[in-house]
Amino acid sequence: MAHPPEVRPLISSDRIQTRVAEMGRQIAADYPDGPLRLIAILKGACFFLSDLARSIQRDISLDFMGIASYGRNKTSSGEVRVTKDLDTEIAGLDVLVVEDIVDTGITLNYLCDVLQQRRPRSLRIAALLDKPSRRIKPVDVAYVGFEIPDEFVVGYGLDYGERYRNLRDICVLLEGPAERPA
Ligand code: IMP
Repeated sequence: MAHPPEVRPLISSDRIQTRVAEMGRQIAADYPDGPLRLIAILKGACFFLSDLARSIQRDISLDFMGIASYGRNKTSSGEVRVTKDLDTEIAGLDVLVVEDIVDTGITLNYLCDVLQQRRPRSLRIAALLDKPSRRIKPVDVAYVGFEIPDEFVVGYGLDYGERYRNLRDICVLLEGPAERPA
C-alpha cells in the first residue's frame, strides 16, 4: 500500500520485523521458565503484540487491557481510566506489559500501579517505541524497540483519530496534532 501524502516513513516494516524478532529472542532468554503472561494495551499495541508473541519461542499466555486518557487531544492528559480490565488473574505470574509507545509516561505509570496491586511475581514493560524527551512521569521500560524523536507517529498499530493503524511502516504524521501536553 502506498503511503498517503500526509505521512513520511520513519521506520520501515523490515526494520520493525528485525527488531521485534530480536526483542522476542531476548525476552525468551530472560524468562527461561514459569508462566509468562503478555498484557497488551488496546488498541495500538495489537500489531506489535501479534509479531512479538510469535517471536517469543516459549509458552506464553495473553490478556488485554483497555485504557482511556482524557485531555486536549489524542495524547495523554494526566487522567487515565481503565475501560477494559483483564479477563484473568495475574497474582504470582511474570507479567510483561506490551505497549506501542511510551510518550509522557502517564499511561504506563498509572497502569503499573494498578497491576502491582494485584501482586504479580514480576512486572516489566516492552514498548516498541520510546520518546524519552517527552517524559513527565517515570517509567522503567525493560525492552524498547526504537527510541524516536519528539514527532507524532502513525502506522503499525499507531493511529491518529483511528486512522493509519494498518500502515506497515511507522511514519511521521506531517503537521501532526498541534496541541500536545508539555
Ligand atoms: P503517554 O501516557 O503519554 O506515555 O502516552 C501513551 C499513549 O499515547 C500511547 O499508548 C498512544 O496511544 C498515545 N501516543 C503517544 N504518542 C503517540 C504518537 O506519536 N502517535 C500515536 N499515538 C501516540
